[in-house]
Amino acid sequence: MVKVEIFEVGPRDGLQNEKAVIGVGEKVALVDCLSRAGFDRIEAASFVSPRWVPQMASSGEVMAGITRSERVSYWALTPNMKGYEAARAARADGVAVFGAATEGFSRANLNCSVAESLERFEPVLAAAKADGVPVRGYVSVVTDCPFEGEVDPGAVAQVAGVLLKMGCAEISLGETLGRGVPERVDAMLGAVLNEVPAERLAGHFHDTGGRALDNIEVALARGLRVFDAAVGGLGGCPYAPGAAGNVATEAVAARLAELGYETGLDMGVLQEAAEMARAMRAGRAE
Ligand code: HMG
Ligand code: MG
Repeated sequence: MVKVEIFEVGPRDGLQNEKAVIGVGEKVALVDCLSRAGFDRIEAASFVSPRWVPQMASSGEVMAGITRSERVSYWALTPNMKGYEAARAARADGVAVFGAATEGFSRANLNCSVAESLERFEPVLAAAKADGVPVRGYVSVVTDCPFEGEVDPGAVAQVAGVLLKMGCAEISLGETLGRGVPERVDAMLGAVLNEVPAERLAGHFHDTGGRALDNIEVALARGLRVFDAAVGGLGGCPYAPGAAGNVATEAVAARLAELGYETGLDMGVLQEAAEMARAMRAGRAE
């Protein structure tokens, strides 16, 4: 069976958008449950400005509180050196820089231009290389931008190519708004594959329009074998108005199994984690 990895991003991309503060204990319990589900990698934290994303301010405490499984690596978002240093102090196993394909989204999410964001990532990549820490590079708004509309596939390919050359081990293509349809996702992938080989790419689909699973199938046909997902379909991006949750991990795992791919995930534990995630969201609604 061909292996496909689901990279679990629920504790970060899922929870970052929740308005009510979720306690460290609940976050730790979610990560600990996910650690038993069979993932290789879990994005558990985000070392960004607490003024920009208050929910992630407890990332250091979460990383200190989790019970680490030897077979799982725990990742964190790091937009700049300050974030990188905090991630190192928290013993993150891998870090992610995150850029965008459009100026509008870069400005809203990082308060700088695309070129400036790439400049800020350079010292992070250099420090990570010296420390032997793997780095992922996200590219957001790969098909649609809340500020600029439909996105040129060439712009996505260009940023993805730069991140690869800068030393990112993997480029995750963020369909941030969940508005992408298979035809446009395919065209975007066609352009990106001129710059980055499929084995260095991951697909990161939000599911606002209900097309995420179809888009994953398009990406599978293009040779991608890593997909980001959030248990319970948690999430969104606070700087992408209207974006709904990430595609649900349990839905991706079920679809991949139907298609004959091996994920190595325990569906029972996944359901348990999905219930915890849903309870966190319900807690907010009360
Ligand atoms: P800025 O205001 O331009 O930064 O924000 P600054 O350098 O001028 O610093 C302002 C203050 O922030 C200072 O504090 C810094 O120390 C502090 P003060 O002196 O005023 O008290 N600061 C930090 N604090 C903690 N950790 C840090 C850090 N850096 C500066 N790392 C900045 C620039 C990048 C910091 C800000 O824009 C930011 O934090 N943005 C993050 C936004 C974010 O987290 N968005 C969600 C994640 S991305 C996403 O969800 C998309 C993805 O899922 C893929 C997809 O779906 O497309 C990955
Ligand atoms: Mg996202």
